[in-house]
Amino acid sequence: MTVSPWWRDAVVYEVYVRSFADGNGDGEGDLRGVRSRLGHLRDLGVDALWLTPFYPSPLADGGYDVADYRGVDPRFGTLDDFDALVADVHAHGLRLIIDIVPNHTSDRHPWFREAVGAPPGSPARDRYIFRRGRPGPDGEDPPNDWPSAFGGPAWTRLPDGEWYLHLFATEQPDLNWRDPTVRSEFEDILRFWLDRGVDGFRIDVAAGLVKDASFRDLAGRDHRVVSGPIYSRPEVHEIYRRWRRVLDGYGGDRMAIGEVWTDGPEELARYLRPDELHQVFQFDLQLAPWSASAFREVVLAALAAVAPTGAAPTWVLSSHDSVRHRTRYERPLSMPGVGTARAKAALLLLLALPGSAYLYQGEELGLPEVTDLPDGARQDPIWKRSRGGLPGRDGCRVPLPWSGTEEPFGFGPPGVRPWLPMPAGWASLTVEAQASDPSSMLAFYREALAMRRTLRGDLPEDLTWLDAPETALFFRRGPLTLALNCGDHPVRLPPGRPLLTTAPLYGDLLPGDAAAWLRTRG
Ligand code: GLC
Repeated sequence: MTVSPWWRDAVVYEVYVRSFADGNGDGEGDLRGVRSRLGHLRDLGVDALWLTPFYPSPLADGGYDVADYRGVDPRFGTLDDFDALVADVHAHGLRLIIDIVPNHTSDRHPWFREAVGAPPGSPARDRYIFRRGRPGPDGEDPPNDWPSAFGGPAWTRLPDGEWYLHLFATEQPDLNWRDPTVRSEFEDILRFWLDRGVDGFRIDVAAGLVKDASFRDLAGRDHRVVSGPIYSRPEVHEIYRRWRRVLDGYGGDRMAIGEVWTDGPEELARYLRPDELHQVFQFDLQLAPWSASAFREVVLAALAAVAPTGAAPTWVLSSHDSVRHRTRYERPLSMPGVGTARAKAALLLLLALPGSAYLYQGEELGLPEVTDLPDGARQDPIWKRSRGGLPGRDGCRVPLPWSGTEEPFGFGPPGVRPWLPMPAGWASLTVEAQASDPSSMLAFYREALAMRRTLRGDLPEDLTWLDAPETALFFRRGPLTLALNCGDHPVRLPPGRPLLTTAPLYGDLLPGDAAAWLRTRG
């Protein structure tokens, strides 16, 4: 049984489309590939998929640079493929969330091309954020000191002397959300995809849409702080109130989840007012080190942040923007097997928490971050803009290994090289290899997800902390008790009958780097 509405306790699986499955044999994943592998998601036991951008795009930032918000990039398929995918997702009993990228377009979007061709001060330029440089002989300094999140300044100058703002890559000009045509266009785009049957949206850079009208300098402050001029300006909430009305106009519990980075719970809660977004990402777990006290602290804080709003919390360990958690948990020491052991234990924590969990493709296979990609293969603008100083995010975006013993491991047809090279050692990590191995990460994910499904109808939406040794964390939700031991030494388990453990128990002792679910009565 699920609680209502569906997303309050859903497990959502992030599909990074370009790296999931290659249906047309061009070395990049696509919508046909996703369709062909829906059985994997059903067998895994998730409730929904979130598709990263598949829109026409020059891929300057992996598709987060959209040139047409109502289409499908030919590399990824056609609108007919999309419609067929929606139908198949629903036929598999799953829901579909798609990414929407409202903060910026691609520099190839017709609006930006028009803006570049139009004179300063024209309505076409007003859809973006064009400014003169700082006062001075020729205004050759950018209008302010804002940095791009990918490195370097957030401004690029056109030959006519005006500068445009891009909080990310140069190829991602920021839209001006004070312009009513931008607002109505996006409401229309939402309707376009809602009419095609999507169940929800993941809103990219959701806190950044409206900038402070003063465009004041950061003057040394971190650009992400909400007290600064860029993120979480009060006017951004008007946008989501209007989006909520659009969503509410459709039946079937359509939802929106915002990618919102804030520096405080009050700010986060504002997005969750009843007439705004249904959910926001809470990145606390992903940011926490392997430590019971750190986990306890972030869980407490995350629950407290959403408590006044009535919204359900959300949890995430990995995404297409972060180092895979198996590898994070191996650092700084690299002891063989420790990352995998901890990743299994972290899954039991994640799935025992109230609210919804967002999984990232490949974590069910225990994939590590690929740290040795050849320089020539790397594509992330972070890598490019830092001139190789920062590795960027390609290492978590390597295509999924499905079957076989050599590249492309069933990702696409034999002999077709995937867009990022796949490590030779992945033969043992394929879905095929793991499906038949009861001790594999995949088998463990399936078992844990199936058990959560059986239990979920009986789990209260809150949790009770139990006393635990310093290196451990214990809590109870009705019939389910979670015990997680982040230390090196075994700890005595709290009461209950073991249902699922990540490592063999010694009597009632839980080993280090392990977790257990226990069935509790009464
Ligand atoms: C979000 C996306 C990230 C992208 C950025 C700019 O943070 O998750 O992948 O690069 O926005 O669109």
